[in-house]
Amino acid sequence: MSISAQLPRRCWVEIDLAALERNLKLIRATLPPRIKFVAVVKADAYGHGLPQVAARLMHAGADLFAVANIAEAMTIRELSTDWPVLLLSPVLPDEDRYLADYDLAATVSSAEEIRRFDAVGRAAGQPITVHLKIDTGMGRLGVWHTGARALYDAIRAAPGLRLAGVFTHFSSADEDPAFTAEQRQIFLRALEGMDPTGLLIHADNSAGLETTPGDGVFNAVRVGLLQFGILPHPHSMLARVHAEPVFSFHTRVGLVKELPAGTSVSYGRTSQLKRDSRVAVLTAGYGDGIARSSSGRAQVLINGRRCPALGRVTMDQTIVDITDVPGEVRCGDSVVLVGRQGGVEISIQEFSNWADTIAWETLCSVTKRVPRHYRNASGV
Ligand SMILES: Cc1ncc(COP(=O)(O)O)c(C=O)c1O
Repeated sequence: MSISAQLPRRCWVEIDLAALERNLKLIRATLPPRIKFVAVVKADAYGHGLPQVAARLMHAGADLFAVANIAEAMTIRELSTDWPVLLLSPVLPDEDRYLADYDLAATVSSAEEIRRFDAVGRAAGQPITVHLKIDTGMGRLGVWHTGARALYDAIRAAPGLRLAGVFTHFSSADEDPAFTAEQRQIFLRALEGMDPTGLLIHADNSAGLETTPGDGVFNAVRVGLLQFGILPHPHSMLARVHAEPVFSFHTRVGLVKELPAGTSVSYGRTSQLKRDSRVAVLTAGYGDGIARSSSGRAQVLINGRRCPALGRVTMDQTIVDITDVPGEVRCGDSVVLVGRQGGVEISIQEFSNWADTIAWETLCSVTKRVPRHYRNASGV
């Protein structure tokens, strides 16, 4: 173990791998058994740690992994060569050869990609696996749906390619069910005339699961957020899945002190104390992942009590009001930024709202200096 891994904790993330495994099983239990589970583990598994998360999801029975880039795909390949890996982001021309070297599936959106990947497959004497992506209203990757059939035919005719799936991506599944239904219909129409035999047909991200039809042509889902126990929006009917948060975020009290009424707190003097106050200086700031934009709004849990942050969040420290916290607060005490303490919870949605952002971004914003500690790692 490295010395830094043995140091006392100042600001850290806890990842509950047993909860991750339970979540996958709970989500699966809501889906027909024929539906394959594509675990979306890009961006270091949404900040949870790719090797640890992928290893546990392999154990829990994920069918396929979706990542953004070759480096992430290689991390999965270091764990196992058995699982299919789909690259969700575009492959750059100087990355093409890795598709063959590491047996990775590429997303195809254009005739140019078909030509490039076909050439790699032919040169390798082994077809490159591809999923054809159809743009049904996201306006990002994928061929615009009216041109999907031509690319499908081109892939089928390319000896250096093996078509393994056809998919689309919803732009607003968490906020606009009507537009999601429209995208689903456009996708189904684009599939007409394609032979789906042996193909993975997928569209649903976490929020898509709210409206996914249990029957029909879809036979895979691509789930990111929900597998980490986070709902795509606060009123989501996916609460019925009972997935639990895998991630919690913690820090400690670095200093306790009394300040008189009228004192201004932190940079820029944006906050003045209205009363004589007891404050705690926490050992975490925006250098760890407490967004500066949450200044004046953020709260933390100390002794099971919500404590408001005072003034601006700074790089390494955040100041909170502990005047109303019962019992003593001492240097070194644990503080919850996201998670539960004494029956009170700060959810990741709440933490994200304070920073005017979304849970996905919060998870990707916990910085490199924050160690991830894995609970229940021995279940594998
Ligand atoms: C193409 C694609 N599919 C699936 C997902 C998973 O989405 P979610 O985290 O909402 O489940 C993402 C995430 O951004 C994505 O980009």
